[in-house]
Amino acid sequence: MPVLLREAAALLLAGGPRRVVDGTLGLGGHAGEILGSDAGLCLLGIDRDGGLVRAARARLAEFGTRFMAAQGSYADLQEHMARIGWEQADGVLLDLGYCSAQVDDPTRGFSFNHDAPLDLRFAPEEGETAAALLERLTEEELSAVIAAYGEERAARRIARALKEALPRTTGQLAAAVSRVKGRGRAERIHPATRVFQALRIAVNGELEHLDRFLRRFHRVLSPGGRAVVIAYHSLEDRMVKEAFARLHAEGFGTLVTKHALRPSPEEVKRNRRSRSARLRAFALKAA
Ligand SMILES: C[S@@+](CC[C@H](N)C(=O)[O-])C[C@H]1O[C@@H](n2cnc3c(N)ncnc32)[C@H](O)[C@@H]1O
Repeated sequence: MPVLLREAAALLLAGGPRRVVDGTLGLGGHAGEILGSDAGLCLLGIDRDGGLVRAARARLAEFGTRFMAAQGSYADLQEHMARIGWEQADGVLLDLGYCSAQVDDPTRGFSFNHDAPLDLRFAPEEGETAAALLERLTEEELSAVIAAYGEERAARRIARALKEALPRTTGQLAAAVSRVKGRGRAERIHPATRVFQALRIAVNGELEHLDRFLRRFHRVLSPGGRAVVIAYHSLEDRMVKEAFARLHAEGFGTLVTKHALRPSPEEVKRNRRSRSARLRAFALKAA
């Protein structure tokens, strides 16, 4: 279920864009809303997950040649745009993190609800799996990953247990973490949730991709063009906030959102995943 759908689309569409890039296409929820709202607009969707690119192509076929899709990273935005002959875009959207379809696919190892090989890669053909990462990192490195990306207080004890158990499946990982943390009654989330998040961020180099994007996106925005980013993790949100503030201070443009937008209580009730979402928007200076 797309998060902050109306808000993201309204902020992007306010400048009357002709060329929009959705850098995290997923199943095309946001892309479909944007394409449906203006018949004169073209959209390029990018996702690291080739299966999702294919699914989005099928779902958005009704938009014909107004919709184009590519497999790859939004960090290589400029290269993907160049391939379809775009030098500039009037709007760029990022809706970070994972897609529910990835979690629901039992073969991908994103969820402890299915016992599957511990993978967690957005692009199943790219880089090392979470199981290989667990094997490669030292206990200290693993503890740092779990503490920073999972904001997990028991990181040291969990890292020790994982290096001993070296889980190969999601079920084994969840069981190893549960043995360390127990199942506190006050906990509203599964004890392994934060560890899965940390490993996913590390396996996919998510912060590195975001950093590359944030340092370069303004070079491909047209005058008055807008970037809208939805983040679900405090580290990511801080990176977005600081990058937009820096561009503003350097005179490149303005902050469209002075403070991050949050989903309404109704949206959070409908879609629990949205509870941590923070949306920020930036507009490049008009010519
Ligand atoms: C929250 S989902 C996007 C959902 C989408 N907005 C929708 O409405 O269906 C995030 C997507 O970003 C993709 N992704 C994550 N990092 C990426 C990157 N660096 N480049 C491109 N896609 C990425 C994931 O594969 C996932 O499909």
